[in-house]
Amino acid sequence: MTQSSRLGVNIDHVATIRNARGGTHPDPLDAARIAVASGADGITLHLREDRRHIRDNDLVRIAAGVAAPINLEMAATAEMVAIAEALGPHACCIVPERRAEVTTEGGLDAVGGAASLAPLIARLTAAGIRVSLFIDPDAAQIEVVARLGVPVVELHTGAYAAAPARELARLQRAAAHAASLGLEVHAGHGLSFDNVAPVAAIAQVAELNIGHFLIGEAILYGLADVVGRMKGLIVQSRT
Ligand code: PXP
Repeated sequence: MTQSSRLGVNIDHVATIRNARGGTHPDPLDAARIAVASGADGITLHLREDRRHIRDNDLVRIAAGVAAPINLEMAATAEMVAIAEALGPHACCIVPERRAEVTTEGGLDAVGGAASLAPLIARLTAAGIRVSLFIDPDAAQIEVVARLGVPVVELHTGAYAAAPARELARLQRAAAHAASLGLEVHAGHGLSFDNVAPVAAIAQVAELNIGHFLIGEAILYGLADVVGRMKGLIVQSRT
C-alpha cells in the first residue's frame, strides 16, 4: 500500500457559528487543536475579504497555537499577500473569491489571470510559502499552473461531489496530468464520508482539504455528548 493522502481540516465554519453570536465561542483555535489531536495533518482556513468567518486575529492565534502546518486560503489580492507575508504560513492556496458567493464555487481562472497572478506568486514564494492554485480539473489550467512555477495544484472536487460517477475519471486524468508536469496534487470541496474514498485512492493526490462536511457531522454526532453533559449538570444542581 502506498502512503495515504494527508488530511487538511478546514475550520472556517467553526468561526461562522461563533460569529453568529458575536462572541468567542466556539473558538476555531480549539477546533484546530482537536482536529490535529484527532489525526488531521494540517489546518486549512480561508481569510475572506469580507471576514465572514475567519478573522485576522484567528489566523495569528491558530498559527501560533497549533502544532501542524497551516494552509491559508486566500484571494489573489495585495491585501492578502501582505497578510500572508507577515504571518508566514506553511502554504497558501490561492482561490477565486466573489463576495456574493456562499462558498468557493469553482476553480481559479489561471489561464486568464496568469499575468496578474505571477507577481503575487513571486512574493509568496520569496517569503518561503508553498503556493498552490485552486483550479478545476482542466488540462489547460493545470498547464498554466506548471508554467507559473507554482509547486502545488489543488483540484476543485465540487463537480465530482455533485456527480461522482460522471466526474471521477476527469479528476483521475487531471491528477495524473498535473503529477506528470511535476506538480504536487491536492484536492477538495464537497468531500464527505460517501464520496472521499475514490479521490483518496488516486495515487497522485497528496492532500485532501475538507471542511463543511466535517463540521456538520461534528455538530450532529457531538450533540449527544454535550446534551447529556448539560442534562447531567442540571439534574446534579439539585441533588
Ligand atoms: N479546498 C479549498 C481550496 C476550498 O476553498 C475549500 C472550501 O473553503 C475546501 C477545500 C473545503 O471545501 P468543503 O468545505 O466543501 O469541504
